[in-house]
Amino acid sequence: MKQLNLFLTSLFFFLCTASHAQGAAKSVNIDSLIGLMTVEEKAGQMTQIDLGVIAEGGICNLKNPQTLNLEKLKTAIAKYHIGSILNVGCGSGTIALDNWHKILAMVVAENKKNSRLNIPIIYGIDAIHGANYTMGATLFPQQIGQAATWNPLLVQQLYGITAYETRASGIPWNFSPVLDLGRQPLWSRFFESFGEDVFLAKSMTKSAIRGLEGNTSNSPYAVASCMKHFLGYSMPLSGKDRTPAWISDRELREYFLPTFQMAIQQGAKTVMINSGEINGTPVHTNYDILTTLLRNELGFKGVAVTDWEDVYKLVNVHHVAETKKEAVRMAIMAGIDMSMTPNDFEFTELLVQLIKEGTIPMARIDQSVKRILQLKVDMGLFNETRFNKNLYPLFGSTKHASVSYNGAAESLTLLKNKDQILPLNAAKETILACGPAANSLNLLNGAWTHTWQGIDTRFNTPGKLTIQQAMQLQMAKTNFNYVPGCTTDSIINIEACVEAAKKVSKIIVCLGETPCTELPGNIDDLSLSEPQQQLVKALSALHKPIILVCCFNRPRIIKNVAPLADAILYAYLPGDEGGRAIADALFGKINPSGKLPFTYPANVNAFVHYDHKSSEDLDVDFSNNAYRPQFDFGFGLSYTTFEYQTFKMSTNSLGDKDSVTISVAVKNTGSREGMEVVQLYYHDLVASITPSVKKLVAFQKIKLAPQASQTVTFTLHKTDFSFINKALKRVTENGEFELLIQNQKQSLYVH
Ligand code: BGC
Repeated sequence: MKQLNLFLTSLFFFLCTASHAQGAAKSVNIDSLIGLMTVEEKAGQMTQIDLGVIAEGGICNLKNPQTLNLEKLKTAIAKYHIGSILNVGCGSGTIALDNWHKILAMVVAENKKNSRLNIPIIYGIDAIHGANYTMGATLFPQQIGQAATWNPLLVQQLYGITAYETRASGIPWNFSPVLDLGRQPLWSRFFESFGEDVFLAKSMTKSAIRGLEGNTSNSPYAVASCMKHFLGYSMPLSGKDRTPAWISDRELREYFLPTFQMAIQQGAKTVMINSGEINGTPVHTNYDILTTLLRNELGFKGVAVTDWEDVYKLVNVHHVAETKKEAVRMAIMAGIDMSMTPNDFEFTELLVQLIKEGTIPMARIDQSVKRILQLKVDMGLFNETRFNKNLYPLFGSTKHASVSYNGAAESLTLLKNKDQILPLNAAKETILACGPAANSLNLLNGAWTHTWQGIDTRFNTPGKLTIQQAMQLQMAKTNFNYVPGCTTDSIINIEACVEAAKKVSKIIVCLGETPCTELPGNIDDLSLSEPQQQLVKALSALHKPIILVCCFNRPRIIKNVAPLADAILYAYLPGDEGGRAIADALFGKINPSGKLPFTYPANVNAFVHYDHKSSEDLDVDFSNNAYRPQFDFGFGLSYTTFEYQTFKMSTNSLGDKDSVTISVAVKNTGSREGMEVVQLYYHDLVASITPSVKKLVAFQKIKLAPQASQTVTFTLHKTDFSFINKALKRVTENGEFELLIQNQKQSLYVH
């Protein structure tokens, strides 16, 4: 009787608050709701399944167009009470907007019928560079290209549109951005990172989270972001995906933690966990990382979801648990809230057993369920009118495409331009375009494009232009030719390419890398593939100007072909508007302004970062010349030139409560408009942890008309010069520092 009374009182409270809150922001009484839930319902909330589990056709083999199987859906809801669904059914391809609406409406309807408490199900998706799993969505440059823009406001706009178009599909949760620092160029997901530098990546993180989460609660244009993959995923020792990382606690905090800290400060609602291990402990079992650090120290209050099948992988990949049941216990007790199970319900069943046996305390479960329900409340999922498809007229619009174009345009990084060979005059030149990236939308977009690996061409958005198509549009037909020459990994017709090249004045070789990510993207050698090298070498025998355009997932070694080229335009993975942007840069309609967000290695075994230690400068002849990258971090040319005046400092002495203002006047000394990224670095001369030779501490991108000048000002405090010391504390140690802008340096004394 007492229990019945409690149930009725709780139901009353829950329903009152539920109906009261319909319409605008909803305030569901989560504690009351939890009080009504059975063990099975709680375990269900903590379960996330793949679309394949409830779709016609079965896992990884969905019917096209994708349709749900009513019986399977009913089982998932009525029997297992699932809390979340994800993905597009592995490998099955992108889903049309209308079909998304149909699928999600069916989930909502069945949930209403079959879920006792009608707790909404939350759908999550990888909208990695735009809503890439919705047909016709706007596709942006991948994160590495976004970072190359050094334009945080533009990047925020891209994420705002990604949120808008993801919500247009009906999906409120996006597994983005990747906040793993890109310091291992071999890693197959290098392109998914914001590059190697902590400060630049933090700036981009701020933009990404603000863009995705929006600034008003319950906005129909915002999604819950998911900072991933916490923590230390991007630095596997071997460079292979999900293989062991050896990272000290100090380095974890110095390099890999700050982006996540920034995301939490900006209100990121969810986090996804690193599938790999650090120092022998799989992160999914690491209480120190998932609870002590993430919750207690950083104060993160949102939902922690596992990565793909990672609870089971504790048994069958990592071998730290004998049984799946033990794996479930380990992961939940370490701090996981939701398991991306995703292909069956064994996790759910085992969790129910563990709770009923008392092996996992109810208080621990309630903590996770509360976070999950809070996410659903925050995303407005309890509201009846939570989705109105008419709110998204700009989905896939030219307006959105023009923002994507700007992103691509500002990312393009001019690495070489001998004798100002670029830009080309479309009216005067005869041109041959060749190479694997010249005529492929997929090579411009990379993985996470319509399908997971991004290789399937069937779902590409009609009307989007490849590089050669976009160039052709700007030239007389008879002056332009395209011959592929080779694919990314095999020769097609290099002789034909050379023959065609004999008839033209300029040769554009578009180098590329087959789209790939995660395990399928593992490689043993960072070198540019042999066929592509052969293509450039064969063409160079003609002694005609060669321009390389590079569309790589990671910095493939080009030291053998770079000297053969007169110009190199590095395009990263620029997305659907990349073809247009590249053609416009080659023909001078836009002036490249991207700067490398990573150090471009010259050799396969020379992965030294720009912020390396002095000891890494020591060469075999004992000189200080060992750091010899192909191109430096922050480097990128322009079609115009900029001159920096001597920079000024408001003081050269900085105490605890002081600030120092650094100002520098920059002039465009050329004859065309251009954008410049003013970069401020510092060098800590002596510190208790070996200092880097330089570290980025501030930057600003400016646009200057020909002959115009602008003074850029940065204000810094003592904390801007901090690092993690041996005791794992963030400190600034007193002493002499150098401030560096271009090739100028001045001393600052910190006390
Ligand atoms: C990836 C995640 C992704 C998840 C869901 C995993 O394999 O590591 O980044 O969000 O799949 O698709």
